[in-house]
Amino acid sequence: MSRFITDNIRVFRRKWGLMDSVPIHCTTRVIKHDLNHLPSVRRRIAPTFRAMTSKVTSVPTEKLPPPSGAVSDKSGQKFVPQISKRLEKFQTTIFTQMSMLAIKYGAINLGQGFPNFDGPEFVKEAAIKAIRDGKNQYARGYGIPELNSAISERFEKDTGLSVDSEKEITVTSGCTEAIAATMLGLVNPGDEVIMFSPFYDSYQAALSMAGAKVRSITLHPPDFSFSVDELKSIFSKNTRAIMINTPHNPTGKMFTREELEVIASLCIENDILAFSDEVYDKLTFEAEHISLASLPGMYERTVTLNSLGKTFSLTGWKIGWAIAPPNLTWGVRQAHAFLTFATSTPMQSAASVALGAPDTYYQELRSNYLSKKAILVDGLKAVGFIVYPSAGTYFVMADHTPFGFENDVAFCEHLIKEVGVVAIPPSVFYLNPEDGKNLVRFTFCKDEETLRAAMKRMKEKLHLKK
Ligand SMILES: Cc1ncc(COP(=O)(O)O)c(C=O)c1O
Repeated sequence: MSRFITDNIRVFRRKWGLMDSVPIHCTTRVIKHDLNHLPSVRRRIAPTFRAMTSKVTSVPTEKLPPPSGAVSDKSGQKFVPQISKRLEKFQTTIFTQMSMLAIKYGAINLGQGFPNFDGPEFVKEAAIKAIRDGKNQYARGYGIPELNSAISERFEKDTGLSVDSEKEITVTSGCTEAIAATMLGLVNPGDEVIMFSPFYDSYQAALSMAGAKVRSITLHPPDFSFSVDELKSIFSKNTRAIMINTPHNPTGKMFTREELEVIASLCIENDILAFSDEVYDKLTFEAEHISLASLPGMYERTVTLNSLGKTFSLTGWKIGWAIAPPNLTWGVRQAHAFLTFATSTPMQSAASVALGAPDTYYQELRSNYLSKKAILVDGLKAVGFIVYPSAGTYFVMADHTPFGFENDVAFCEHLIKEVGVVAIPPSVFYLNPEDGKNLVRFTFCKDEETLRAAMKRMKEKLHLKK
């Protein structure tokens, strides 16, 4: 957004008695409301305000549902949202916005990454049993012993690393909390953290809460690789950590061993920490997952972040964890102690049962997802998208430019309203949104009938630019 517009919105905020912390999109709503209701105001400022807001191109919120707590103009009552400076630049997450639009327009939701089928019976039964058995009071802060042990066993099986379940594992409320606890517990205000754009949206918000700065390099299609020289160039004396995510949301990229080795050597050379989000480690199709912590010299400086939701199709349970050597676990646990203190006891109990699943469970999971992925990828290609390879996760990135839309937000709005399918506009995952404007993210964590129905709608209603 240009300097001219933000400056003018500041003037209007003062006029309307709104504090500077009120996000710009909320300010514009208040002003619009008053324009519609107060004729004298309308005459006075309407032309300037319209000219001003028509220049706003990069903030698509006008057409999206208001963030929670935003101004309501239905009843005519105004609510002025209060928000700290640390968070004012973050809007309602794009996933919530898109899922709300999906409901409003009756669109098929291939946007937010939650399965529309249930998790396994044996895990649900274990949760019911735990509740019946009275496992319903506060859990031990860093996790119930059975779950900590199950996590360490799984980690050892997957990586060959033997960790102390009592000293090196912290159970959290989803990976989201593990991310926040890691950032808040190990990063100081003014520190810089390196990330690869596009990145999962909670990283930046958590770093902002920690008072840290994001330095980022962009992963470019088709293979979403990165330039080693560019990566080296963004290290500084203030770099505290590098954050990676493999398999990677939203691109489906899996960092190769060579790439991980480069990252590891830079971490060691610059003596910094690594935070590795591996929530999709079991959803791999084209390559073997490699944990960054398993590379030589890396365990001692890495926090590995994971959760139950994706692997067991139980995203609503929010059971996550952080694995790190005792000195780093110290910081993570301190933050966790004051964020949530402990995580749901019966769900932890069931999670420990889930993690004991035999290898066949994971094989079946992969083979089911492979069929779904094929429906999505083949369908998108048949509709006319340029589809980029996705080695892991349940996401696929595609290039929407054959359809002739200005950017990803315009394309996704058309897709929801005119075609009846929801996807995610990935520019929100980039530090520089321009880098993602030609892309669109689809998920295939839906039953096959839903995926086929979405493809049918797109085939019928989405037309290539002439
Ligand atoms: C890369 C990544 N990390 C973390 C999360 C959050 O995981 P959880 O639901 O366990 O908090 C997600 C959820 O979509 C994700 O895609």
